[in-house]
Amino acid sequence: MYIVFEGIDGAGKSTQIQMLQEWLENNGFRVETLVEPTDSKVGKLIREILQQSDAKTDRVQKTLGLLFAADRMLIMDRLEDKSKIFISDRSFISSLAYQGHADWIGELNRYAKKPDLLILLDLDVKTSVARTSGKDTFENEEFLTGVKENYLKLAENYTCEIIDADRGVNKVSSDIKKAVAPYLGICPDCIR
Ligand code: TYD
Repeated sequence: MYIVFEGIDGAGKSTQIQMLQEWLENNGFRVETLVEPTDSKVGKLIREILQQSDAKTDRVQKTLGLLFAADRMLIMDRLEDKSKIFISDRSFISSLAYQGHADWIGELNRYAKKPDLLILLDLDVKTSVARTSGKDTFENEEFLTGVKENYLKLAENYTCEIIDADRGVNKVSSDIKKAVAPYLGICPDCIR
């Protein structure tokens, strides 16, 4: 199973992925987590470019679109292992939401695996900006408003659970477990 977490910056993806991983492992599953951008050379180059002052220009966003697709391609074969559940922090759906240019980005990512389940952590943009202020953040409010709208439209194309991320971590985690449980034959009443 390939579970993808998406959401704007500060939505809590990494915390929730860690909590889901622990819970699944306690239920006897083997779990591998993935993060995009990866720690490959391409992923490092992406992080450098994201810090540039011109990162939001169309030219740089298109360049990032190409690099994200290449970075992603480097990890696709890992997903072949059927004995594990893969949980990914972002996917090609981030490229569609952040870079736009749906047809072109979609084609570049033709061989990227589609999620079996997409967990969209939906967060108010103002909360996102407040949560990430002072951090090494890449995004601004106007840009994130567009990204959030893109995500909600994109969600319609996948098996997706939209989770309100503007609540305490345990409440959010419990909803995520309830969303995942039916796919893995875990008893919903056993979820706290
Ligand atoms: P992020 O997961 O937010 O990194 P960190 O946890 O280090 O803050 O990802 C970095 C940024 O890259 C984030 O703003 C979203 C952006 N991004 C894209 O624009 N396109 C993509 O395809 C991906 C995977 C990420």
